[in-house]
Amino acid sequence: MTPGEDVDMSLLIYGAYGYTGELIAEEAVDRGVDTVVAGRDEVRTDHLAARLDVPGRSFEVDEADEHLDDVEVLLNCAGPFVETYEPLVEACLETGTHYLDITGELSVFEAIAERDREAEKAGICLLPGVGFDVVPTDCLAGHLHDRLPEADELRLGFDPSGTISKGTLASVIEHMDEGGKVRRDGRIVDVPTAHERRQIDFGRGKRNAVTIPWGDVSTAYYTTGIENIEVFTAVPPLVGSSMKLSRFTAPVLGLPPVKKTLQTLAKTFVDGPSERQREEGACYVWGEATDGETTVTSRVKTPETYALTVDSATTAAERVLADGPVGFETPAAAFGPEFVLDLDGVEGFFDE
Ligand SMILES: NC(=O)c1ccc[n+]([C@@H]2O[C@H](COP(=O)([O-])OP(=O)(O)OC[C@H]3O[C@@H](n4cnc5c(N)ncnc54)[C@H](OP(=O)(O)O)[C@@H]3O)[C@@H](O)[C@H]2O)c1
Repeated sequence: MTPGEDVDMSLLIYGAYGYTGELIAEEAVDRGVDTVVAGRDEVRTDHLAARLDVPGRSFEVDEADEHLDDVEVLLNCAGPFVETYEPLVEACLETGTHYLDITGELSVFEAIAERDREAEKAGICLLPGVGFDVVPTDCLAGHLHDRLPEADELRLGFDPSGTISKGTLASVIEHMDEGGKVRRDGRIVDVPTAHERRQIDFGRGKRNAVTIPWGDVSTAYYTTGIENIEVFTAVPPLVGSSMKLSRFTAPVLGLPPVKKTLQTLAKTFVDGPSERQREEGACYVWGEATDGETTVTSRVKTPETYALTVDSATTAAERVLADGPVGFETPAAAFGPEFVLDLDGVEGFFDE
């Protein structure tokens, strides 16, 4: 523990010395939020705490219940989240601490949604996905549902620019043997990787796009109640074809030694986007909803995905600190579909 530990503690950021966690911690401190930085590595946690002049706490995820008594909101930035969410959610339920994270992992959303009643009983909110995945798409889903309440099919998608961090790549590797997922008649079903391909105008002309098992396959259902959901991302044609081919390599990618090697390579060779890339990048987000007769389309343009994540996660934490909802929530359900429009540099909704 560092000097300053006696201040009124509000937001604890776990995984704070990771690429994204550190950017969020800097932003929270800049905005004047009472922040504690935390992580499992004592040296890196203390170093960040000293640099930001805030308290630091180092602990493993399964010791979290001993460190949250004076914390109002925990923001988990330690991914792959399949390895961290459960003990942190347990600790939050036990200590009455609101839980937020920046996961994009479908199975994690589904597992956290199942804890809704326990969260209500504990008087806390469980609000995963307050980063790029899923804030803009979730808000677009809510907006499309407002435009066409009878819709029974929802398609969402995005066309990002720029590169990804080692943590994001690690999370992709963690789940890459699981194939594709879509929601049909309310249930999440397995489909082949990139099972559907189409041309989509995300906001800068038509692009090739393929389906991906993105978090909204889980969350957009809770936000809108729409029972058929697919999520697309723009890909160069060659990537779309190789994703299809990866159906045959998926079983190999699931082998522990292969996963471990890929994780090591990701840690060694991948850096997150530079400050300039974060400032200059953009992302085009699209959605359409249909009831079989009428189809409505809407779009938003956002800043680069990590820049958006820093803003959306910090803003979500501030809002929960001010007036936390209770139970399992999606971003659009917690703050309304307009939430994304309150973030810096977001343009939209562009409706057709
Ligand atoms: N929703 C979104 O749009 C969005 C945006 C950005 C990032 N993300 C996700 O956020 C996660 C972090 O990304 P990043 O770019 O910050 O990655 P990163 O630089 O690799 O940082 C990962 C952080 O998580 C910690 N961590 C990982 N596994 C842990 C475990 N089992 N126990 C305790 N701490 C653990 C790491 O600590 P050690 O170094 O000690 O392992 C590190 O502090 C990834 O899953 C990524 O996909 C999502």
